[in-house]
Amino acid sequence: MNDVEIEEFCLLAQKTATQAGRLLETNRTTEFDISKKGRINLVTEMDLRSEKLIVESILAKFPDHQILAEEKGVLGGKGPVRWIIDPLDGTTNYAHGYRFYCVSIGIEVRGTVVAGTVYDPVTEECFWAIKNHGAYLNERRIQVSSETVLGDSLVSTGFSYDESQITANLEHFSRVIYETRAIRRDGAAALDLCYVACGRFDGFWELTLHPWDVAAGLLIVQEAGGSITRLDGSPCDIDDQEFLATNGKIHSALSRLLSR
Ligand code: IPD
Ligand code: CA
Ligand code: CA
Repeated sequence: MNDVEIEEFCLLAQKTATQAGRLLETNRTTEFDISKKGRINLVTEMDLRSEKLIVESILAKFPDHQILAEEKGVLGGKGPVRWIIDPLDGTTNYAHGYRFYCVSIGIEVRGTVVAGTVYDPVTEECFWAIKNHGAYLNERRIQVSSETVLGDSLVSTGFSYDESQITANLEHFSRVIYETRAIRRDGAAALDLCYVACGRFDGFWELTLHPWDVAAGLLIVQEAGGSITRLDGSPCDIDDQEFLATNGKIHSALSRLLSR
């Protein structure tokens, strides 16, 4: 796959994420069906409509590409390119009218994420990156913060729908809150990662995430100069569940706290 082809994929990801995001924002205050995948795990009609729009526009152009989409699973053909889609990251927020949510699309070629985009329809911010070519917020190149002191850092986390994991993260939370300036829990992992990439957060961690939550966001953090690992500092890939993403400078201090 050459750079021109990857750029073409990335442009399509940005275009379709923007269209899906606008569809979500336009319908935010309409009545839409909500069902449950678990006691606290919602799926709305809008998750499905957003995913359908994205999948159809990718397959119309690239029918042999593989797709991993959160709601419908494995779709598409058998080619070397795989699109990893979270059609609405932050479903709980969306369902409650809390306007922190996004659309996330990562693009993998033969198992390596080469491009990704995360679109926030509330702020109209499109975060994107191409491997080895940097990370951007709309047209502007972005980089992680320069904060070196954990005690002066703003960090963020998320809590799993798997309720057996909540206590473990509450323990992390209660330790980290005394060693940082503050913790946020905003409820959309893909956007949390982009906030690390553009320096709004100095770090983010979560214990139970899926490839569609992180495929785009992890690349965007890396291309913005940040570090991504498991909580204990060991290397991660999108098939892991736990992630620590930081500006790099507070990484080992935060990792030490989270590995206790
Ligand atoms: C969820 C959000 C949330 C995170 C959960 C994810 P969804 O994704 O990213 O912030 O804490 O672990 O599953 O269900 O809104 O796409
Ligand atoms: Ca998600
Ligand atoms: Ca989702």
